[in-house]
Amino acid sequence: MKVEDIKTVGMVGMGVMGRGISISALLAGYKVIGRDLNDEILARAKDDMINGRFGMKGAVDRGKISKEQMDQAIANLTLTAKLEDLKSVDLLIEAIGGANPGQLENKDLKLQLFKDLDGIVKKEAVFASNTSFFTIRDLAAVTNRKDKFLGLHFFSPANIMRLVEVIWTPELSKDVLEACVEFCKKIGKVPVKVKDMPGDLGHVGNRIYSAIGREARKILEEGVVEKPEDIDTVMTLGFNWPIGPMAMGFGARAGWK
Ligand SMILES: NC(=O)c1ccc[n+]([C@@H]2O[C@H](COP(=O)([O-])OP(=O)(O)OC[C@H]3O[C@@H](n4cnc5c(N)ncnc54)[C@H](O)[C@@H]3O)[C@@H](O)[C@H]2O)c1
Repeated sequence: MKVEDIKTVGMVGMGVMGRGISISALLAGYKVIGRDLNDEILARAKDDMINGRFGMKGAVDRGKISKEQMDQAIANLTLTAKLEDLKSVDLLIEAIGGANPGQLENKDLKLQLFKDLDGIVKKEAVFASNTSFFTIRDLAAVTNRKDKFLGLHFFSPANIMRLVEVIWTPELSKDVLEACVEFCKKIGKVPVKVKDMPGDLGHVGNRIYSAIGREARKILEEGVVEKPEDIDTVMTLGFNWPIGPMAMGFGARAGWK
């Protein structure tokens, strides 16, 4: 497989991440078929992609892209509630959320989805998960395309943030890995190859971020500082971090409004 073989991207889950990843792919000239559960969510996704805080209209107003680029991107976007509409995509990226309010992600849901998709999407297509924490090999295991299954872990807002962790398993074909690294570059990202590890611990960014969060909470519980903001002050003024660990906890998830 070569990067040129990727022409249409299937985006499963048009939430915070799906919207951003789709914008990046669309602005690079890819066709995107975005799937979510119902038409209401899809309409909200489209509106956010155009008019939201990180939407394309703002990029046009700031001179980052032209109106023609935005119009072309919108023309290349298809939204659907039907899984079957993803059957001929070349690269499928999954970014579905959890089943319960406030739940970031749910492994059983992803496993069931990949199992279903494996029977629907053409066998040459590459599957990628944007999972923050789950081991990619576990997700790949429910499919018959372990050599074409990897992690593409974007950061939020995904059309602005440049990093992608490209997570490889021992079964992944080298060609597919390199094609996906090139795909990331084509959509304006900086890919970093990351070895998949067992244990659902996250990859590089989230492992380090989780460790920092754990230690910050411990410091607070032990009464080492009087208030959470003190931890942020130590890290921003003492280490020149742009934001402290406590402030960063108030997620990027709400950032599109
Ligand atoms: N938010 C972040 O900062 C961030 C960063 C990196 C990775 N991730 C990962 O990306 C994934 C999605 O996160 P998010 O923040 O975009 O969640 P979100 O809740 O904003 O969006 C998830 C979307 O998935 C949809 N969905 C649920 N089941 C579906 C299905 N079977 N088919 C299609 N759509 C379905 C929901 O309706 C929702 O619109 C998670 O695995 C998360 O860990 C999130």
